Amino acid sequence: MITQLARDAEELHALPRQGRRAVVMTMGALHEGHATLVREARRLAGPDGQVVVTVFVNPLQFGPGEDLDRYPRTLDADVLLAEQAGADVVFAPAADEVYPGGEPQVRVTAGPMGERLEGASRPGHFDGVLTVVAKLLHLTGPDLALFGQKDAQQLALIRRMARDLNFPVEIVGVPTVREGDNLALSSRNRYLSDADRASALELSRALLTGAAALEAGPAAVRRSARVVLDAAAAMEPPVVLDYLALVDPADFTEVADDHSGEAVLAVAARVGTTRLIDNVHLTFGERR
Ligand code: PAF
Repeated sequence: MITQLARDAEELHALPRQGRRAVVMTMGALHEGHATLVREARRLAGPDGQVVVTVFVNPLQFGPGEDLDRYPRTLDADVLLAEQAGADVVFAPAADEVYPGGEPQVRVTAGPMGERLEGASRPGHFDGVLTVVAKLLHLTGPDLALFGQKDAQQLALIRRMARDLNFPVEIVGVPTVREGDNLALSSRNRYLSDADRASALELSRALLTGAAALEAGPAAVRRSARVVLDAAAAMEPPVVLDYLALVDPADFTEVADDHSGEAVLAVAARVGTTRLIDNVHLTFGERR
C-alpha cells in the first residue's frame, strides 16, 4: 500500500474517503508505540476502511522552557513507518494551516482534571492538547480515534471532551508498548544516554513493584513504589521525582486507602534533561 501525504486540509479533503475512518494523532518521531497504534487502527477500520495518521508538533501544548525547539522532526521516516504499519494517509499540516493567524483566541479548557498531575507540572498543557485534538478531529472527521494509554491523563481528558462536547467519534485506548527492559516507548527516549537509561528503568520498576502489592491495598501500592523511587533518587544520574500518584481514572484524583475498582498508578520524573512519564492500570478488589 502506498501512503498518501497530505500537507494541508485541501489536499486531505481531496483524497477519496472510503469505509470507516480511523485516525492516529502524533507529533511525529514515530516509533514502535505509534506503529502499534496504526496497526490497531488498521485492524479496527478493516481492509475497506481508511487509516489517517496526523503528524503535527503542536506548539500550544509546550510550556516555556519545554522542548518544542528540540522536539525531533523526522517526516520522511515517519511516512515510511506509517506506511509499513498500514496507514493510508499521513496528514502533516504546517503550523499556519492549523493555527491561521497565530495562536487561537478560543481554546478548549481541560477543567480541573487538566490541572492535576501532568497539568500541575505543565500549566496549560492539556488546554493545548485538547484544542489541537478538537481541531484535528474536525479536520480529519474520523469514526474512531486511537490514543496510547501511556499518556493516561491525556486519554482520559480526550474521552471526557468527546463525551462532554458531543464529538461524534469513538475514542479507543491502546496499551503501552515497552522495550525488552520494560522502558515505556517514547519519542523522548532518544535523548537518554546509557547512564540516563539505566536510571530511567527505575520508573517502570517502581510501577511493577507497586502493582505487586495490589492485594495489600492502595497504601501498600504507594509505599512499595515509593521505596524504589527513593532509592533511584540516589542513582547517578538521579531520578528526580515530579509525582507518584495513585488516581481514579475517571477524574485523576487520589484514591482513598479503602478504594476498590479501577486505579492508575502514575509516575513522572526527570532523568538528566529528559522528563519521562509512565503508568500502570490496577483493579483493587473490595476491601474488608
Ligand atoms: O500524544 C501526543 O502525541 C499529542 O499530545 C497529541 C495527541 C498528538 C496532540 O498533539
